[in-house]
Amino acid sequence: MQALTLTRPDDWHLHLRDGPVLTRTVSDTARQFSRAVIMPNLTPPVVTTAMAIDYKARLDAQGTRLTPLMTLYLTDNTSAQEIQRGYDSGIVKAVKLYPAGATTNSAAGVTNIEHIYPAIEMLQELGMPLLVHGEVTHQDVDIFDREKGFIDQQLAPLLDRFPRLKCVFEHITTSEAAQFVAQASERVGATITPQHLLYNRNDLLVGGVKPHLYCLPVLKRNTHQQALQDMVASGNNKFFLGTDSAPHAQGAKESACGCAGCYSSPAAIELYAQAFEAIDALDKLEAFASFNGADFYGLARNTDTITLLRNSWQVPESLTYGADVIIPLGAGQTLNWQLQA
Ligand code: NCD
Ligand code: ZN
Repeated sequence: MQALTLTRPDDWHLHLRDGPVLTRTVSDTARQFSRAVIMPNLTPPVVTTAMAIDYKARLDAQGTRLTPLMTLYLTDNTSAQEIQRGYDSGIVKAVKLYPAGATTNSAAGVTNIEHIYPAIEMLQELGMPLLVHGEVTHQDVDIFDREKGFIDQQLAPLLDRFPRLKCVFEHITTSEAAQFVAQASERVGATITPQHLLYNRNDLLVGGVKPHLYCLPVLKRNTHQQALQDMVASGNNKFFLGTDSAPHAQGAKESACGCAGCYSSPAAIELYAQAFEAIDALDKLEAFASFNGADFYGLARNTDTITLLRNSWQVPESLTYGADVIIPLGAGQTLNWQLQA
């Protein structure tokens, strides 16, 4: 096969940041995706509908054809009324739960899920998705066990309490998470990133620390990578594309205390194609990238297409990022598929 034409995909989990870097981040995403769910972990976080409307205006001002689907950042104080306001605005499509301290810019996140039961009740009533960063944060829990701990201690009890809640388990990294979602109701879905399909913790750590492969939840052992690969190869429609592309300047990553996040937007669909081809599942790429997420969110599938050509090319070693430099995911690697210009 020399060309692969797909319904235009969407990115159901994306960090675009704010300010001058939007020139880069919005256009890198728009080259391939039609819509993207925009994460709200700015400084300060997007906690109100008014802030989401302002942020969307800054994204739209970039003049690309990307349609940003906005989210609100849940705090201990998010009210049911704010959820209702977001829903009524028509631009807020979901809300994001960051356990306080779990990841980049999560300090204002939720300290105890009971604090936001009224907000979650409202989400359930409205059918608006709760997006979860699924890691427990207690100091005593090993970083490699934090996702599994979240399932047992937080997510399973939450879904028992709110059985009609629509929920996306974001950027899953473990066989436990994949199994949990597969066995949950049809109201529970999951996103999977390119890095968690392509790499495991050996890639991160063997032969020296690779700061540009450091993201949260952290890459796991190869058996977990395999479980995610098996799940996407199965074609299960609860799993869909969410890059979690999360840019940080080179200096912030190559540091004594490096930031978490991989910047995949410049080659996202090609990285997924590489991952799917490696497991002989290219025939499952279109549903994963272009159908399952839209269906889950209750939105129409896109009607235009993109074409990938079998054409070896190298991901750039570095790119400009505002006044800084950024190292993209897969920098310097040769990929087999290239988006047709
Ligand atoms: C994200 C970021 O940098 O905003 N980092 C990451 O490693 N994925 C935050 C997040 O989604 O956890
Ligand atoms: Zn993220």
